[in-house]
Formats: sequence, C-alpha cells, structure tokens
Amino acid sequence: MVPTVIPTQPFGDQRPGTSGLRKKVRVFQQPHYLENFVQAIFDTQPNLRGAALVVGGDGRFYNRTAVQIILRLAAANGVARVLVGRGGLLSTPAVSCLIRKYGTAGGIVLSASHNPGGPDADFGIKFNVANGGPAPESVTEAIFARTQTIDRYQILETPDLNLDQIGRTQLGAMQVEVIDPVADYAALMESRFDFPAIRALFASGRFRMRFDAMHAVTGPYAKEILERRLGAPEGTVLHGTPLEDFGGGHPDPNLAHAKELVARTQGPAGLDFAAASDGDGDRNMILGKDFFVTPSDSLAVLAANAQLIPSYARGIAGVARSMPTSQAVDRVAEQLGIPCYETPTGWKFFGNLLDAGRISLCGEESFGTGSDHVREKDGLWAVLFWLNLLAVRKQSVAQIVRDHWRQFGRNYYTRHDYEGVDADAAKGLMDHLHSLLPALPGKTFGAHQVVYADDFAYTDPVDGSRSTGQGIRIGLQGGSRLIFRLSGTGTQGATLRVYLESFESDPNNQTGETQAVMAPLVQLAEELAEIQKRTGRKKPDVIT
Ligand code: G1P
Ligand code: ZN
Repeated sequence: MVPTVIPTQPFGDQRPGTSGLRKKVRVFQQPHYLENFVQAIFDTQPNLRGAALVVGGDGRFYNRTAVQIILRLAAANGVARVLVGRGGLLSTPAVSCLIRKYGTAGGIVLSASHNPGGPDADFGIKFNVANGGPAPESVTEAIFARTQTIDRYQILETPDLNLDQIGRTQLGAMQVEVIDPVADYAALMESRFDFPAIRALFASGRFRMRFDAMHAVTGPYAKEILERRLGAPEGTVLHGTPLEDFGGGHPDPNLAHAKELVARTQGPAGLDFAAASDGDGDRNMILGKDFFVTPSDSLAVLAANAQLIPSYARGIAGVARSMPTSQAVDRVAEQLGIPCYETPTGWKFFGNLLDAGRISLCGEESFGTGSDHVREKDGLWAVLFWLNLLAVRKQSVAQIVRDHWRQFGRNYYTRHDYEGVDADAAKGLMDHLHSLLPALPGKTFGAHQVVYADDFAYTDPVDGSRSTGQGIRIGLQGGSRLIFRLSGTGTQGATLRVYLESFESDPNNQTGETQAVMAPLVQLAEELAEIQKRTGRKKPDVIT
C-alpha cells in the first residue's frame, strides 16, 4: 500500500511543555495539527522505521480518533509493529512498562494528564523513548524544530481499525496488535510487592479502603489488581469506568478535586485508607483516617521504609526529588547514607538517574511518586507500596507518618496556585523576583533570614546536559524555603505556583494546622513577589 503525501504548513505553537504537547481539543482537531506533530516525531526519530511502538491514551475525548490517525501515520512511515491497548486505552505507567518489557523503540501517550477532558477541554500527546520514559529535552526540542519547518506528512488512506477486540491485524505492511491494557502492568506490580501480605490485610475484614479512579484510565487497572488479584471487596474502586469527559470532573487527585473521597476518610466511620489517581494514572493521592499524606512526605516515608518491600529488601541506591518538592526525603537519604538529587520539575529529569542506577525512588510534590520499575511516575504503584507497608507495619497511615516526623522532623508543606493569570503579569512578577535575587542572601524579614536565593539550574550528572530558568528558589535559615515557578502544563494564560516549606524538628510542634503554620511564609511570599498587586488576585485558586 502506497502512502499518500499530504502537503502541510507549520503551526507555530507545537513546542512540548513539561510533559508533552498539551492544547485544547479544538486546537488538536484542526486539519493537519496532530498529523504534523506526529510526522515530526517520525522525521526526527529515524530509529522508529522498521521498529515497534506502543500507542495508547487515557481515554479522554479525541483519544480514539487520535489513535487511528497515529496508526495510519506510523504505517506510512515504516513502523513495523504497534502495540495498542484495547479501546485505545493505556495508562502512562502501563505504556512505560510495555516499552520496557517488549523492548520497543518508544511509545506515544495520549493524555492531558489531570486536565479535564471533553470537546471543550484538553488533549495532549507525548513521545516516550526506548527506556520507557518521556523523551529528553534534546529530543522534544528536535521534534519542535521540525514542526516549525514541516511541509508534508505521509499517511495511509485506510478505514479505521477495530480497536475493541484483542488480536492482530495488518495496516499496510505494519502489524497492529491490540492487547489487554492491564495484564502486563498487573504482572509487573505482582512481581514488585508482597501480594499475599496485602491479600491477608483485606481478608482480615478490619481494613476498609476506597480507590477513586475519577472516571479516568486507572479504573480497569485498579479493579483487576485490587478487587480481583488482592481480594478487596467489590466496590473498593470508585468511578471505575473510564469516560471521555471523566464524568465532567477534574481528574486530579488532590484535596480540591477529590473532596468526596477525602470526606469518606473523616470522622468516626472514616475509611482506614483511601487513594486516588489522575487522568492517565501516573499521579497518586494517599489518605489515612483523618489524615492527608503530602506527596513530599509520602516519598520520604517510602524511602525510609523501602526495605520492608520485597523489591527493595536489599536497600535503595539513592533518591531524587523535583526542586519544589519538600526536603523531607533529603533527611531520609542523609540518615541512610545514600545520594539525594534535586532535579527540575518534570519526570523526564529522573530518567537518566534511574537508567544509571543512581536512584531507586523519586517523586514530585505534584502527587507523583515512582521508582526504577518503569520510567514514569506511577499512581497505582504508590498505592500498592502503601498497602504493602500497612500490611507489614500493622499501623495506621497517621501512625506511620507521625513516627516518621518524630524521627526525621516535619517539613510542613503547601502549594498555592494562581491559575489563568494574565501571561504578561506573570512574567512581570517573575522578572521582578529575578531582579531581587542578588540582594536577598543575608537579608532578614521578620523571623526569617535568607540563606540563598537563585534561579534554579540543573546539570544532569549523567549526560552533562544543562537546564536553566527552572524556578526561583529562596532558602531560609532553619531549612524553610519559598519557591516561585510558572507552570509548563497549563493551556490558558499563566499559572503561578508558589511552594512553601517550613521545617520543624521539635516533636512537640508537629501537629500544627499546615495553613496556619505557613501564614508567615505566605506573607513573606506576598511581600517579595507582590502577587496581589501584579496579578490582581487576593488569594490562590487552589491550595494543596
Ligand atoms: C505539573 C507539575 C509537575 C509535573 C507535571 C506533569 O507541571 O507541577 O510536577 O511533572 O505537571 O504531571 P507544571 O504545570 O507545574 O509545569
Ligand atoms: Zn498524569
């Protein structure tokens, strides 16, 4: 079958952000828009010719259409074989798992992660490389550069394939294999955790949990793993059917968007454990009875307890966290005598460290936790890690975290987001902060003395590549910090993120209410960044 060559013109706006190209669905629906981007992947990644590729997405609106288009482009560009999840579904960690397990040359993930779905909402596409992780900056930049000059793409003009039935078909010379989206991932999880111990926990009948799949991709994964393989009662998984618009919700597992789940953990009848994941299954939120575990604390607790888990029984090599993530895990690494790396925001920066065996666990404050088992953050993996821990330690979530604070100190932590801010105002605010930096070290504001103030830059210790302009970092005496960053994943205006961290080593002062403890730091952030004056916002849109 001969590919058709279609003339096209560049779209100027196809630079991938923190995690791929993310735009409104309507933008993706423009003729040639998706095709140009995908052709740019094939034009810049010649190793895909004759190779295998994994394709799937989180099931949001346009997922099915996009998968069909990508398959036709892949066939026209000489890809030999594509593994695609049934119904076009694959969670992001499952894509990573499949790339690694079957040694494919890469994968294409369709998702806008935690952003809402539907015809008026968001869509996204991300290219993952052969290690199973998001493409490094050199690759995403090359793809972007190609989109700026592209003048044609190649496609097969064939009818849609049936993606709802498992099995093999041909698309021109390319083999398409529709696979069970869950099986390989579930097997990987079973190999990493003590399933019999978790099964016993559920069988005891004294442990009540719910997992909220938020009508996104993890529903089928959670049902198979929690309810079928681990014997959790039916109904443990809430909102378990993936919907194109996620039921109209915001598939973002945090205190603002998973309110219903949070409520179920509160009061005398509260659940012992609850967790949620996002649109594409890579994020996680962990809750105990009347207790919210911050993602930063979660990473620290997992690192401190890793040896209780079969896959880390012999210890962990090192840990990494994104720059805005709290320094809780740094303290664990120090005690364990292992390295701790501070990387820019975005999962792609963990890939080299994981590949080189320098780290075993990594995480971000934005509800992302992961390890060397794949090259993406992994929501259900984190939930299973916690379940394994609860089964072994036989304590509540709150007891485990409070014990942790007593031993390592508590890093109070909160993130304040100002969404849809005027882009120029946001840039002005960051420029203003920038201009303050040189004079800040040594200055005192109330009880706070600035130790360092910089614009975070990172040199990858493995390949030496350098990333600059990764956010403003202000370190205070005693281990507290203020961080300012503009989001790289928003699709409307700018999102200003202010990250606040306050360290408390005294076990008698570790039960404060986070926002109250943070009030002085919030005030300092306002004083330095002039948020109200510059953005017109009196308070953040989302507080986590
Ligand atoms: C956000 C998070 C970041 C995460 C990314 C993709 O990016 O802050 O930690 O890696 O989503 O899930 P941001 O919008 O801040 O650029
Ligand atoms: Zn996600």
